[in-house]
Amino acid sequence: MSLLRLHAEQQFSEELDQLSRFDSWEKPDGWRLSPRCVVMYIMGGQLPNKFQVSPKYIGNQRLIEIAVATLTTDRALLLYGLPGTAKSWVSEHLAAAISGNSTLLVQGTNGLGEENIRYGWNYARLLAEGPTNTALVPSPVMRGMMDGKIVRVEELTRISSDVQDALITVLSEKLLPIPELNTEIQAVEGFNLIATANNRDKGVNELSGALKRRFNTVILPTPETIEEEMKIIEHRIVDLNKGHLKLADLKPSYPEIERIVTIFRELRNGVTQDGRNKIKSPSGAMSTAEAISVINSGIALSRHFGSGQLTANDLASALIGSIIKDPVQDQVIWQEYLQTIMKGREKWKDLYQACKQHL
Ligand SMILES: Nc1ncnc2c1ncn2[C@@H]1O[C@H](COP(=O)(O)OP(=O)(O)OP(=O)(O)O)[C@@H](O)[C@H]1O
Ligand SMILES: [Mg+2]
Repeated sequence: MSLLRLHAEQQFSEELDQLSRFDSWEKPDGWRLSPRCVVMYIMGGQLPNKFQVSPKYIGNQRLIEIAVATLTTDRALLLYGLPGTAKSWVSEHLAAAISGNSTLLVQGTNGLGEENIRYGWNYARLLAEGPTNTALVPSPVMRGMMDGKIVRVEELTRISSDVQDALITVLSEKLLPIPELNTEIQAVEGFNLIATANNRDKGVNELSGALKRRFNTVILPTPETIEEEMKIIEHRIVDLNKGHLKLADLKPSYPEIERIVTIFRELRNGVTQDGRNKIKSPSGAMSTAEAISVINSGIALSRHFGSGQLTANDLASALIGSIIKDPVQDQVIWQEYLQTIMKGREKWKDLYQACKQHL
């Protein structure tokens, strides 16, 4: 039986091995690769033996350099931006490349307790033995400090403010006090923290000033051009369909994919590609990640129930669910887009008809 999803360091173990063989640059203490090689792992490139490192992030290399450089300092890294701009994705790959382990992860939620950032107790042991080292259950943050590894905190702003603030001592003193055992954990070289947060979700808890100062923020933007966005999608779709879809198989679907990306970009930006017509944006994120999932659903529909070739009809079914998140407001916005923009496009008749049928 094969696993549904591998960790980045498992999936790309060969790339990481090859990179470390050719890595002759200075490595910060506790790092598996030099900052240069970490950036190459993320952005892709070719090694002296012609081995190809695949690009993981498609976009501005400078942003990734800033992110990696931050992690070599005593500041933590905050990846910030709209939903679906690859914050979690980049954070996982950074941890995999730097520490060889992307699994030290705290998933930020509203009800998250302090024990997920500091430590908890195995209550059976605590009752039997009292507070001892063996009764203590370390959090991923504590393990990262002990082993000198990168720790990831997802959706930092969903965590309540007082729990967030437990990170302040960790980040400024690189220290985790354990008063029950009258001891403390001092972080080992190689420890740092990557947090992600998005600026769109409701119900967020703003970071306190004290915590903000412990982070360097890197904002991941939405793709600048349609070509860039197409490239991201192409990579991800081939990757998601490994085993049954090659780049060459995907090529005939490009015109369809381009139309979907155009719709996403226009609705996201509130204006048509040619800049002539203003349109309203729906409540959903209309992110690249969402476009990827629409196309992937379309491909699944065509593979199992269609001709195997992606059609407007397959995409229309997947498209509606992704655009209409609010049944009233978004429905109106989508109708308006169909009638005023799509209907008028000569080459879009099939997609327009298919979308109309699904309303
Ligand atoms: N610039 C990009 N380069 C490569 N992949 C990208 C890019 N932008 C988006 N993606 C793809 O989008 C998908 C979703 O990204 P991810 O889950 O990391 O988003 P996120 O920013 O964490 O969103 P959220 O705020 O919803 O958590 C990933 O599979 C990633 O491959
Ligand atoms: Mg995320």
